[in-house]
Amino acid sequence: MPERHYRCVYWSRQRMEGGPEQVAAEIESILSAARRNNPHLGITGALAIGRGVFAQLLEGKRYAVEMVFEKIQRDERHGEVQVLAFGPADERAFPHWPMARLEPGSDDQVRIVPIGDDTDVGATHPEARRLLDIVRALATE
Ligand SMILES: Cc1cc2nc3c(=O)[nH]c(=O)nc-3n(C[C@H](O)[C@H](O)[C@H](O)COP(=O)(O)O)c2cc1C
Repeated sequence: MPERHYRCVYWSRQRMEGGPEQVAAEIESILSAARRNNPHLGITGALAIGRGVFAQLLEGKRYAVEMVFEKIQRDERHGEVQVLAFGPADERAFPHWPMARLEPGSDDQVRIVPIGDDTDVGATHPEARRLLDIVRALATE
């Protein structure tokens, strides 16, 4: 039987120090780690960056998801990590994105940007819609 995919969803509180520029630089460094590591581990997913919180979905082979999540959990740029879901999943929610980023835009619109590709895909992209659904579900849980 082929190995099933695993999915991990958590949220956490941001613990980044300094002003907006320093926070933006930390977020860029998190995204660049994802860009560097996730593709060769076969990990895809999405990171929602809210005001003071992160919510992330990681998916891939179990060992890969566990390995990356272990590192993320120890990262001091956030804390109070709460796992909302960890287990097998039949299919990937974000097959094409090593890590998409979702964040509030200037006019309260949500911006969704697949990393490694600077086009804002907009909220009508099917994977973007799925991400919004997941984040919405997390917010109401
Ligand atoms: C909210 C959050 C999400 C992160 N997501 C990822 C990720 O998807 N992939 C990754 O490799 N590192 C991610 N990181 C960074 C890791 O904690 C760690 O710093 C990084 O993997 C170290 O990379 P290196 O082993 O190549 O030095 C994340 C960190 C935070 C705080």
